[in-house]
Amino acid sequence: MDGHQVIRVLRGKHILLGVTGGIAAYKAVTVASRLTQSGAVVDVLMTEAAQRFVAPLTFSALTGRTVRSDLWSLGNGQIMHVTMAHEADLFVVAPATANTIAKLALGLADDPISATALASKAPLLLAPAMETGMWESPATQGHVQTLADRGAFVVGPMAGRLASGAVGLGRMAEPPQIIEMARKVLGRNGSLAGVHVAITAGGTQEPLDPVRFLTNRSSGKMGMALAASARDFGARVTVIHSPLQVPVPFGVESIPVRTAVEMRDAAFDILPEVDVLIGAAAVADYQPAEVAPQKIKKKHGSLPIELVRNPDILGEIGAQRKASGYPKVMVGFAAETEDLLANAKAKLESKKLDLILVNDVSAPHSGFGVDTNQVTLLDRWGDVRPWPLLTKDEVADRLMVWVARKVHGKGLADLGD
Ligand code: CTP
Repeated sequence: MDGHQVIRVLRGKHILLGVTGGIAAYKAVTVASRLTQSGAVVDVLMTEAAQRFVAPLTFSALTGRTVRSDLWSLGNGQIMHVTMAHEADLFVVAPATANTIAKLALGLADDPISATALASKAPLLLAPAMETGMWESPATQGHVQTLADRGAFVVGPMAGRLASGAVGLGRMAEPPQIIEMARKVLGRNGSLAGVHVAITAGGTQEPLDPVRFLTNRSSGKMGMALAASARDFGARVTVIHSPLQVPVPFGVESIPVRTAVEMRDAAFDILPEVDVLIGAAAVADYQPAEVAPQKIKKKHGSLPIELVRNPDILGEIGAQRKASGYPKVMVGFAAETEDLLANAKAKLESKKLDLILVNDVSAPHSGFGVDTNQVTLLDRWGDVRPWPLLTKDEVADRLMVWVARKVHGKGLADLGD
């Protein structure tokens, strides 16, 4: 699976995608395709200029829906753009040219995109794309400001190579960023709105000398899926992470660290403002007793390395929970290869967690590096829920439902799974 699974915040959402006439219109094809594959219903609207770059057929084939390229198309006896405007959960304009941005700011309504936007109360997300001079002009900047003041969201533009061949600010944000921003906008009033979620992630690196360190096979994928999901539920999210094989999701604050001690210290630094702490890091339980100041040279014979214990991050935070009152909710993971439930239950109790997700890291579809995970959720009151094999994004979304209920102090009995 390469990330094309249903994302909870997108599932069943009605998204209007306005495509205007810029070379970046070809990238809107990817946006339409990914949104559709992630469970959204996508209706594409195109200006005449956009149709010079990409054919409407491309979009209709990918979304399975009729593309609106004409202001006067009728549907169910009504002017289509008005019907669509009322139904939409989100209106994305990508690429948004200077011309369309100006029309949206002024309330003009002479093409399918500007007319629909004028009639719509859906949040507006713009992905501007134009030459640097056009972007920087006081006219465009003024229009963008007007739209932002009215509550519009803007992603990009980025610096890079432009259609003219020049390099500068004005490139449209890449499709993954537009989609991440769309998820954030759709989730902004979700069940974790106003809640600060901190997540530890990645495998810590414990230095031996200036060029070597001990680490483990954690990729950080599960932690980043949790971060994206918490963001989609409306939370403010901070990840405290060692070096990762995947990027930190858009809209998530990042505190990079290397060692377990640095991770522990960073977690304690922000703890008083954290509501939910999720320990998804594979923290090294040991570190070398000494870090050689210079590169260790090879010699005859073996090289014994003495290891000393690292702090147990969740354990230390759990131990002060009762006295400090924070974090309100604490979640851990248990990476096991045998006696899964007994080991997870012991960790739940010793680290004073509310929830723990246990996975069999020796199973081929769970654990390190892969996109899927088969976990069992245990809660403090003895509830045990084995979940089916899911993608890490799906595990994260399911867990966030439990976290949200826990934050709001509601019972867990009505959750179903
Ligand atoms: N954890 C932690 N600090 C550590 C070790 C683990 O915060 N030094 C957290 C992990 O992020 C995870 C949970 O504790 O959420 C359990 O991690 P795991 O490696 O399964 O367990 P350990 O406590 O290290 O126990 P053991 O290695 O003996 O199985």
